[in-house]
Amino acid sequence: MKNGTCWLDDEGRFIQAHGGMIARFDGLWYWYGENKDADNVVEGGVVRGRVPFRGVSCYKSRDLHSWHFEGLALAPVQEAGHPLSPERIVERPKVLRCPATGQYVMWFHADRSDYTLAHAGLAVADRPQGPFRFERLALPNRRDCRDMTLFEDPLTGRAFLVHSGDWNKTLYFSELTDDYRGFTGVCHAQMVSQEREAPVVFVREGVYHCLTSGCTGWTPNTALLATARTLAGGLMKLVCDPMEGPGARRTFGAQATWSFEHDGQRYLLLDHWQRETLRTSGYSILPVRFDGDEMSVCWQDEF
Ligand code: DGJ
Repeated sequence: MKNGTCWLDDEGRFIQAHGGMIARFDGLWYWYGENKDADNVVEGGVVRGRVPFRGVSCYKSRDLHSWHFEGLALAPVQEAGHPLSPERIVERPKVLRCPATGQYVMWFHADRSDYTLAHAGLAVADRPQGPFRFERLALPNRRDCRDMTLFEDPLTGRAFLVHSGDWNKTLYFSELTDDYRGFTGVCHAQMVSQEREAPVVFVREGVYHCLTSGCTGWTPNTALLATARTLAGGLMKLVCDPMEGPGARRTFGAQATWSFEHDGQRYLLLDHWQRETLRTSGYSILPVRFDGDEMSVCWQDEF
C-alpha cells in the first residue's frame, strides 16, 4: 500500500476509516474509522471542513493489507438533533473489548458542526463489527472532550479515555469504570497549557509514550512525544519531535491517530487530511523505531 494515498478495500473501493484505529480481536485485524464518503458541506459558497456524518466504518483483515468492508459499525440516525444525525460531528472512534463484560465498547468525539458541544459519545456491541448501539453522550469528569483516544494500561490493567479538554488546553486521562462505559472520577491532567490534540498512547519498557499534534485544524503540524513513568497528573514531559527526515517538521503531511504492535514491531497509523475533499484523505502506516529509549519515525513510501 502506497503511504500518503487513499487505500482500496478488497472490492476496489476507497477505505473510509479516517481518524481511526486498528485492533486485533481473536486473531483478526479490525480497522474502525470515520466514513467520510460524501462531498464536503458548502455554506454560502464556502467549502467547509466537514462532511455530513455517514457512520463509523469497520474493515476486517487477516494480514493488514487486504481489507474487507464489514459495514457500518455505528450507523447515522436520520433524526434532526440526534447526536448521530448527519448534521453532527463524530470523530476519532476507538473500540476496546472490555475484559469484565466481553462487550466491545466504542468511545468517540461527539460534536455539533461548530465544535462547541465537545462531548464524548458511547456505543456498545456484542461483536467487533457491530452493530454498535448508541448509549449516551458524556462529559468525562465534567470536562469537555475533543480529540480523543482509548488507552488500556498494561501496567495497571486500567483503561482511559484520553481527551483534549479545556478547549484543547489540557490533555486528560479519564479512567474508565470496570465495564468501560463510565468514569471512575480518577483523572490525570497532562500537558497543561500545551494545546495538543490527536493523542496516541502506548507503553514501552515501563514508560508511557504519548504522541500528539498541535491544534491547526486539518493542516499538518509538528508532532511531539511526551513520556512519563507514571500517569500521575502533570508528570508527563514533552521530549521531542520523533519524526525524522524530509517532511518530518509537518509529520510528513499527516496527523497520527493510533499505534499498534505486530510481530514485535510497533507502527503508527496516520491520516493525510484533505480539508476540502475530506473523503479523499489518505493514510500511512509507518514503523516506529527505538534506539535505546529514543523513539523515531521515518517516512516510508510503502507499507
Ligand atoms: C484536527 C483533529 O485532529 C481532527 O480530528 C478534526 O477535529 C479537525 N482538527 C477539525 O478541524
